[in-house]
Formats: sequence, structure tokens, C-alpha cells
Amino acid sequence: MTQAGLSQDQLKDAVAAAAIDEITPWLSRSTVLGIGTGSTANLFIDRLAALRDDFKGAVASSEASAERLRGHGIEVFELNSVGTVPFYIDGADEVNAHLHMIKGGGAALTREKIVAACAEKFICIADASKKVERLGEFPLPVEVIPMARSYVARELVKLGADPVYREGVVTDNGNQIIDCFEFMIDDPVAMEARINAIVGVVTNGLFAARGADVLLLGAESGVERLTPA
Ligand code: 5RP
Repeated sequence: MTQAGLSQDQLKDAVAAAAIDEITPWLSRSTVLGIGTGSTANLFIDRLAALRDDFKGAVASSEASAERLRGHGIEVFELNSVGTVPFYIDGADEVNAHLHMIKGGGAALTREKIVAACAEKFICIADASKKVERLGEFPLPVEVIPMARSYVARELVKLGADPVYREGVVTDNGNQIIDCFEFMIDDPVAMEARINAIVGVVTNGLFAARGADVLLLGAESGVERLTPA
């Protein structure tokens, strides 16, 4: 509970509602939305159900989100058949004032990054606990080709991280996740590129080269709408 008595889930639902308000004026029967993954994205999907007749459908960043969308009668399209999407709406594990993010707590980072890359506007929806001065308190996820896991982990140690294999997790792409602990990040754009350059890395959970365009942040005082500093 926050001081105002709101639970984290209530703050997440408030930003899901704010994202609905943000996109509703722009929806048409030809609109295909990009939809993220996680508990905040799920609340957004649940609210989107009421608008299902006002837009064409969605591209999902995970099998879980695709299933939830279909469960609400929202058609799910392959990204390759859509091209670009006007909006990508997703949560974050951490976000800074530049709207750089750490994502991938739910292991969906690669598909999230792909759909985000195809979006005209990335709307990040998050409760206030996700806003940080410096990224890295949340362990940075890195998706790796399974045979490269140990090699990539050794390279991550050289960068200063304490890498931990996320046991038992297989991504929607059939890969594995390494989480980088004790890894505060001063230059997210440079570090995103540096980790992605390690052979065997599919992608990492830094969303800095393509950050969010709008952050809807659920705070005790209400939903704040922030753009990159
Ligand atoms: C999944 C993600 C999520 O956006 C992130 O983990 C936030 O999740 P939640 O909305 O449940 O707090 O990146 O891979």
C-alpha cells in the first residue's frame, strides 16, 4: 500500500486506464496496436477489450499476451504482415528521466524490443516504484543462445556484472536468460550496444537506443504524463 492507500496493482490499473485515454482518440478500424507483456500490460489488455470493435487488432510481444488478447476477442497479427504500429504500450522494470528502461523481468525482452522498434510511439505504463535516477538496481536481463550461455556470462563479468542464469526459463524464442546483478549503468545507450555486441547475445533488456516517448507514471497523487528529459 502507498501512503494514499493505493496498492501497486491499483496504480498499475490507473496507468492502464490513462493509456486507454491516450490512444482512444487515434483509433480507427484499420489500427493495429503493439502490446507488451507483464502485469501492467495485462491490465491494459483487459481494459482494451471494451474497445475491441474500434480497432483492427494487435501485435503481441509474447505468447502470453497474444493468448490474453485472443481471450478478449481481439485479433492478433504477425508483425511481418503489419509493418509499423502507431503505438506500443508496455510496462517496465525500471525507467529513468530520459525514458530509458530496463525491461525483461518477464523474459519477453527480445520480442518487446522488436515490436517497440516498429512503433511510432512507445507509451510506457508503470507505477511510481519503477522510476529511478540510475538504471541497474533491477537485474538487467540478457537473452542468450543456449550454447553461448557460459561464454556470455564470462564476458558480462568483464563488464562488471554478477551474471546469474535464470534457471528453468525458456523464452518464446527458445533461448535462455542471464540476469546481471550488481550492475549499475551510467550510460545506458553505450551499454546496450556493448552487451548486444557479445557473440551469442540475442538482445539485452536495456531499452535506451529506442526508449519510451511517453511515460504514464502511477503515483499517489495521480497519473503523471512524462516525456524524455
Ligand atoms: C516483461 C517486461 C515487463 O514490461 C516488465 O517486467 C514489467 O512488468 P510488470 O508490469 O509486471 O511490473 O519487460 O518482459
